[in-house]
Amino acid sequence: MEKREMVIETDEFTLRPWKDEDAERLAIIANNKKVSNCLRDGFPYPYSIDDAKGFIYLARQSEVNFVGFAIDIDGVLVGSVGTYPKDDVHRKNMEIGYFLAEEYWGRGIMTNVVKCMIQYIFENFGIVRIYAEPFASNTASRRVLEKAGFRQEGVLKNSIIKDGVVQDSCIYAILREEITCQA
Ligand SMILES: CC(C)(COP(=O)(O)OP(=O)(O)OC[C@H]1O[C@@H](n2cnc3c(N)ncnc32)[C@H](O)[C@@H]1OP(=O)(O)O)[C@@H](O)C(=O)NCCC(=O)NCCS
Repeated sequence: MEKREMVIETDEFTLRPWKDEDAERLAIIANNKKVSNCLRDGFPYPYSIDDAKGFIYLARQSEVNFVGFAIDIDGVLVGSVGTYPKDDVHRKNMEIGYFLAEEYWGRGIMTNVVKCMIQYIFENFGIVRIYAEPFASNTASRRVLEKAGFRQEGVLKNSIIKDGVVQDSCIYAILREEITCQA
């Protein structure tokens, strides 16, 4: 998949490629237990400057199947959104993941970011389904997905273990045919 140096600008935020200079700020906003608690163990806590550099390095590699953006508000890095293409029989799917710096929560920002990503992915890739798998306890993320137009497809009972606790996760999806693309 071709890597694009795409920038998406709205009145509220800019979605832009990751830069090496983002590492210091990323290490600050990602180093938050309330954030890592909601994410897979690949997103560590504590989150070091080396973790940040490693993520940015991978995000910038053209051979890595990751369509990811830094979320920028007025020149300040405030979060991350990325989609991960699947392979084999799932190759027409992408999984979306995101996080926002805690001080920006509750303003509707991520709902609008996810809406932008839906449009960008369906317009630029031959993908027919975008899905997310929030932990069942992650009310904020589930609400973001609902507000962005995703449907809950199911609950995966006891599907994850986080910090030693077995929990449920949910699958939310949106299909190409469910949205109107301005191609
Ligand atoms: C999930 C996250 C991205 C949400 O970002 P955000 O910009 O604050 O989201 P929005 O403001 O667009 O929407 C949040 C919604 O959840 C609701 N919400 C938040 N916390 C809630 C809670 N504990 N219980 C019920 N609703 C809650 C908000 O009220 C809002 O809904 P509303 O507009 O109907 O009132 C942010 O909290 C975050 O980064 N969390 C940690 C990482 C994470 O969970 N990533 C997703 C993994 S699947």
